Amino acid sequence: MNFLWLLAVVVVIGIGVNGGVGHEDCRETRCRPDGPAIRFPFRLKGRQPIHCGFRGFDLSCTEYNETMLEMASSTKLLVDDINYRSHAIRGRAYDGCLPRELFYRNGSYPFQFIGRTPLFSCPPSTVRDKYGCGYGCLVRLNPCHGNNSGNHIYAVIGYCSIDYLPLMSCIKLHDYTSDPAYIYDEIGILHWSIPSCEHCKGILHSNSLV
Ligand SMILES: *[C@@H]1O[C@H](CO)[C@@H](O)[C@H](O)[C@H]1NC(C)=O
Ligand SMILES: *[C@@H]1O[C@H](CO)[C@@H](O)[C@H](O)[C@H]1NC(C)=O
Repeated sequence: MNFLWLLAVVVVIGIGVNGGVGHEDCRETRCRPDGPAIRFPFRLKGRQPIHCGFRGFDLSCTEYNETMLEMASSTKLLVDDINYRSHAIRGRAYDGCLPRELFYRNGSYPFQFIGRTPLFSCPPSTVRDKYGCGYGCLVRLNPCHGNNSGNHIYAVIGYCSIDYLPLMSCIKLHDYTSDPAYIYDEIGILHWSIPSCEHCKGILHSNSLV
């Protein structure tokens, strides 16, 4: 076959795929019947093709059929609920670790922690790290693994009294406060923003998000 012809065929197929067909594979799914619905901008990694979701919105199912969001820097969030109307996720840190970007706003990062919480800088302590994994009141912000000797940053999550947390020899950095536009009564909520993506307009409309 003539090389130019081959090129033309490839381009036409490419346009066809980007033009909104192929949404069959993106049908709503769940990790288990009572789990959160998974649909655009999220996708179930391994079961749905990449075009079903945005980069950074990859979900997977744990061995217990729980829904897990793979966040920045290999931190993970167990997702209990996704509210597609208010762009909110309710979840729990998988191993006591959350992305720092949730609390330090970064233009390119789509998730933000909702609420007010004090942030602490603490010397390394296995007591603190164990506590964070067990109770969920204290969450370490990444980097969480590896033996970086510097201070660790922690956020206090949920209705937890600071007096009872293992925060000796820690220094309070500041009170984190989320964008006041996002107010929820529940705890453990993240807000997500759709990344700006001009060529995704077609997908956005066909998924009736806007
Ligand atoms: C997970 O889901 C699969 C398929 O629906 C089921 O066979 C399995 O028992 C579930 N596992 C748990 C731990 O619930
Ligand atoms: C924002 O996030 C990007 C990608 O994760 C990172 O490379 C950059 O250093 C971050 N900027 C700040 C100010 O944290």
